[in-house]
Amino acid sequence: MEEICTQMLLYMLILLLVHLPYLILMYLFVGLLVGGKSVALKTLTARNIATTGCGAFFIDVEGEYTNLTKMLGGKVIKIEQGKSAGVNPFEIEPDTKGSMQFINILDKVAEIRALLATICRNYGRTLTGAENTEIEVVVNQLYAEKGITSDVNSLFEKKGGRLDNGKYAIGRIPKKMPTLSDFQRKLKERGNCKELSDILVPFLQGNSLRYV
Ligand SMILES: Nc1ncnc2c1ncn2[C@@H]1O[C@H](COP(=O)(O)OP(=O)(O)OP(=O)(O)O)[C@@H](O)[C@H]1O
Ligand SMILES: [Mg+2]
Repeated sequence: MEEICTQMLLYMLILLLVHLPYLILMYLFVGLLVGGKSVALKTLTARNIATTGCGAFFIDVEGEYTNLTKMLGGKVIKIEQGKSAGVNPFEIEPDTKGSMQFINILDKVAEIRALLATICRNYGRTLTGAENTEIEVVVNQLYAEKGITSDVNSLFEKKGGRLDNGKYAIGRIPKKMPTLSDFQRKLKERGNCKELSDILVPFLQGNSLRYV
């Protein structure tokens, strides 16, 4: 009997040790939910940028990251009614992994999803499961249609030639990236997410909250 009790005690001790990291993580998570999320995010981001040189972006509805972004030498882009934001959220930059450079389309899907989720939040709603799937499909299609893959070279046309502004280029010409208008047009054509495609109308070229 004594042997069984000792074995049970030992088993419980091992169980506790195995699950200890999860318990600590849960404690941290609950702690952050109560307060300190923004402070934690700002501290971690600033530290990562300073130590690893990695990049970061915030979609900041409340404008609470403006000072930090300026202090770190970043750029604050204001999106205001009636003025173009001057950015194309579909513009894509190569990512670096070791000495390799590649195009991370999956990360871009996540960025576009975060942007659309923020837009939707202003209308008091979240993205539905169907919308999340549709965003993934449409964003991937838009890049595939331009022949953009994980290969960095796929960001450029093969040869130089005449540019849109009438000038000529000798080297490689960067391809024109898809825009939010292309995204909305395709979303509308596919007809699976009518409400989301309607919500995006003011954010399109020529409208009051336009991007590029
Ligand atoms: N580690 C810390 N030490 C001291 N004060 C802290 C710490 N973390 C947060 N605070 C203070 O607690 C308050 C709330 O923090 P913070 O704004 O990060 O919370 P939050 O979780 O983002 O809240 P909300 O859900 O309202 O956005 C702030 O006044 C901040 O200065
Ligand atoms: Mg906060």
